Amino acid sequence: MNPSKLIKKKRDGHELNVEEIQLFVDALQNGAMADYQVTSLLMAIFFQGLTFQETVALTSSMAKSGVQYDLSSIQGPKIDKHSTGGVGDKVSLILAPLAAACGLKVPMMSGRGLGHTGGTLDKLQAIPGFEILLSREKFDHVLANVGCVMIGQDEKIAPADKKLYSLRDVTGTVECIPLITSSILSKKIAEGTEGLVMDIKVGNGALMHTKKNARALGQMIVKVSKKLGLPCQAVITNMDQPLGYAVGNAVEVLECVEVMQGKRPFIEVPNNLTSSDLREVTVHLCAQMLILGKKVRTINEGRKMAQNALASGEVWKRFLLLVEAQGGSASTFDHPEKLLTGTTKHVIRSKKTGYLNAIQSEEMGYLLVEMGGGRKKVTDTIDPAVGFLLHRKLGSRVKTGDPLATLFVRNSADSAQFERLFLNTLEIHSARKPVPKLIQETLT
Ligand code: URA
Repeated sequence: MNPSKLIKKKRDGHELNVEEIQLFVDALQNGAMADYQVTSLLMAIFFQGLTFQETVALTSSMAKSGVQYDLSSIQGPKIDKHSTGGVGDKVSLILAPLAAACGLKVPMMSGRGLGHTGGTLDKLQAIPGFEILLSREKFDHVLANVGCVMIGQDEKIAPADKKLYSLRDVTGTVECIPLITSSILSKKIAEGTEGLVMDIKVGNGALMHTKKNARALGQMIVKVSKKLGLPCQAVITNMDQPLGYAVGNAVEVLECVEVMQGKRPFIEVPNNLTSSDLREVTVHLCAQMLILGKKVRTINEGRKMAQNALASGEVWKRFLLLVEAQGGSASTFDHPEKLLTGTTKHVIRSKKTGYLNAIQSEEMGYLLVEMGGGRKKVTDTIDPAVGFLLHRKLGSRVKTGDPLATLFVRNSADSAQFERLFLNTLEIHSARKPVPKLIQETLT
């Protein structure tokens, strides 16, 4: 293979054949292409796109670039969920034990925070001792016994995607539909799931800012997935504001604990915020998973099953089993507020009266990064205890002096700067604007 010929072919808008795509994927591992050649090809793909056939070939080659788990010895339908990422998106922490409590097996492979979006792995690692890299035997054991397992991508699973993603992340080539499709699906196919529900986030805190792009991404994922034999449904959900009221790794774990326990013992949140949007998305995605796993026939039956499981306390029990099985301790949750130890609270109050009409969610995500709760470069370590709680969501009436958020900061000298950044993310007007619909569309 001559890398520069491959780059020129894509640059000029021609279709790469299956052999060329395989050579490209091989080159990611055997060094036949230098990083500057790989990133040139990525930029050519970013502008010229990939056809459906090319996307299928890239997904399939990347899935086969490492080990492929065969989960057939584990009883029950194996169904996973994946989100394209958002601010405050903590759904997976509740959904994995919830779907398990409803009788599914959930082999969940998640990612770290990227840019302004949080990552499930970082939230899980806010729980002391929680291990996200498990041996194959341990993975099977936890999945079979707890009903769900939550891991990160190790060196063996879709290594070509790992290499490609790290280059995309630093070369402005993340927001590309065929590349996102092949990246997500290669990992899901390698992990051995039998069905996949995709949560495609749309809005100012998501990778896809418009409904048109979110739909195009969802349709591509569903089509490629089907072609490769993985049943998949995609749900488009809104991300014009953080999901739930907590943003930050430990505070998001606390919000999930509250939803799973059905009470609010840990954090005092004025204005009776209820995590209702977080619950709604979680229940809806669980219902879609139950349909794929043939546990129910309709979305309403699925929602009912999920709501009953949440109310029964079974989900909380499963979550504790999962934590124990993956190296943490259930006793952490005797006093979960200790996860915030070492931080100082700072309440931000409104300088205006009116309606909260817009939240620049991407900027809110970057505020968390600025506070130390996310990464600017892959090698950064994050502070799990910092974060913030929203006291108001879109559409709320606000009066001057009302609390808008509580920040948990490591160093109180930084509070004034973070308050300024936080207030810059909000738009408060005298006339109320409609709040975008939370669950927008399902693509099957
Ligand atoms: N998540 C992934 O795993 N890959 C992408 O390309 C985008 C989001």
